[in-house]
Amino acid sequence: MAFFEWRKEYETGISEIDAQHKVLVKLMNTLAAASATKTQDEIAVLNRALLELSDYIRVHFDAEEKLLALHRYPGIDGHIQAHRNFERLFNNLLQEALNGQLLAVDPLLVFLRPWLSQHIMKADHLYIPYVKKGP
Ligand SMILES: [Fe+2]
Repeated sequence: MAFFEWRKEYETGISEIDAQHKVLVKLMNTLAAASATKTQDEIAVLNRALLELSDYIRVHFDAEEKLLALHRYPGIDGHIQAHRNFERLFNNLLQEALNGQLLAVDPLLVFLRPWLSQHIMKADHLYIPYVKKGP
């Protein structure tokens, strides 16, 4: 069983967003798989998975924030704030993990899965009607 299973309830029906959320889930699974071994040889693989996830989070938040601005989503400020709060926590944990503290990947994974799952189901689902009705 994968670390993070995609669930039907995560779907927003907005194809760009669903595709990006699926990539995030996939990258988190890659990270979880890389962290499971924790051998010295795996550090490069692990670091690559960390950076790939970090880069893609930025790509996704950026795309989502532009989409919300385009559709004049009234909750945009709070939504952007939630992304920035996430980034602060994520970046701290990322730095610890990249500094070679292999065990620091576990707290990162423990933080990531429920955060993304909750964020998609709650915050992201709130903007669906605004995005679906067109700009
Ligand atoms: Fe979001």
